[in-house]
Amino acid sequence: MLRVLIAGGATGIGAATARAFRARGDAVLIADRNEAGLAALRAEGGPGRLETVTADLSDAAAPRAVVDTAARLFGGLDVVFANAGVLLARRLADWTPQDFDLTLAVNLRAPFLLAQAAAPHLARSGRGRIIVTSSTGGLRGHAGMPAYHASKAGLLNLVRALADELGPDGTTVNAVAPGWIETPFNDAFWQHQADPEAARHDLEASIPLRRQGVPEDVAGAVLFLAGPEAAYVTGQTIVVDGGYSAV
Ligand SMILES: NC(=O)c1ccc[n+]([C@@H]2O[C@H](COP(=O)([O-])OP(=O)(O)OC[C@H]3O[C@@H](n4cnc5c(N)ncnc54)[C@H](O)[C@@H]3O)[C@@H](O)[C@H]2O)c1
Repeated sequence: MLRVLIAGGATGIGAATARAFRARGDAVLIADRNEAGLAALRAEGGPGRLETVTADLSDAAAPRAVVDTAARLFGGLDVVFANAGVLLARRLADWTPQDFDLTLAVNLRAPFLLAQAAAPHLARSGRGRIIVTSSTGGLRGHAGMPAYHASKAGLLNLVRALADELGPDGTTVNAVAPGWIETPFNDAFWQHQADPEAARHDLEASIPLRRQGVPEDVAGAVLFLAGPEAAYVTGQTIVVDGGYSAV
């Protein structure tokens, strides 16, 4: 039985990952700002224990608080999945320092602070795992979203640096990089398309597997990285994108 903290898991990839851990009997604490989403998840059954805590991970104090909560509830911690993310899109001239800082605070600083706070607990576990959600957006860049792309690229090297530092404790640190996954995250993007159906069709035609991913596709990679099969994998990024970035 694993003791798992998911930071950003009220909906989408984090929620699917929580369900997948619970289905195996693992204990999960989800920290998220979306209270309604957390309440909906609490209403679901599952063999594994589910706890939730409302937290705004853009607050620099929140990561340590949620790590402490998980360790207290479960008597320790084996896995941290740093998955919360925000995507702001603006023309370059319209960006404010606050917009940029918010993106970096949630997408890059929170995973770092979660890792920092969790490291001693994971060392005691002896088989600790830190998994962060980057993006294929960390491998490329698009107009209008410089902070998102910078933050997701930053995670690729954050996991390398942390893998080096925490490896002697037996803790692995890896990233998953989803491509296009059907979650509420992309709602604003689709709503901004002149013809959303045509845009969706064109996108899916450009993906080798001819569909967008579902959250469960990413949960599979997270469970792999959390499991004993990945004991010798660290500092790496697994791309889960149906081949989108391969062509
Ligand atoms: N959906 C995609 O196509 C896609 C692609 C690549 C990467 N990602 C990444 O996957 C991760 C999960 O996104 P998703 O697609 O499941 O979307 P989602 O919107 O369902 O999940 C994001 C979660 O993060 C939480 N969150 C955001 N800001 C927060 C904050 N300040 N404090 C606490 N919680 C906060 C949200 O409430 C939500 O539960 C994100 O990091 C995103 O960048 C998504």
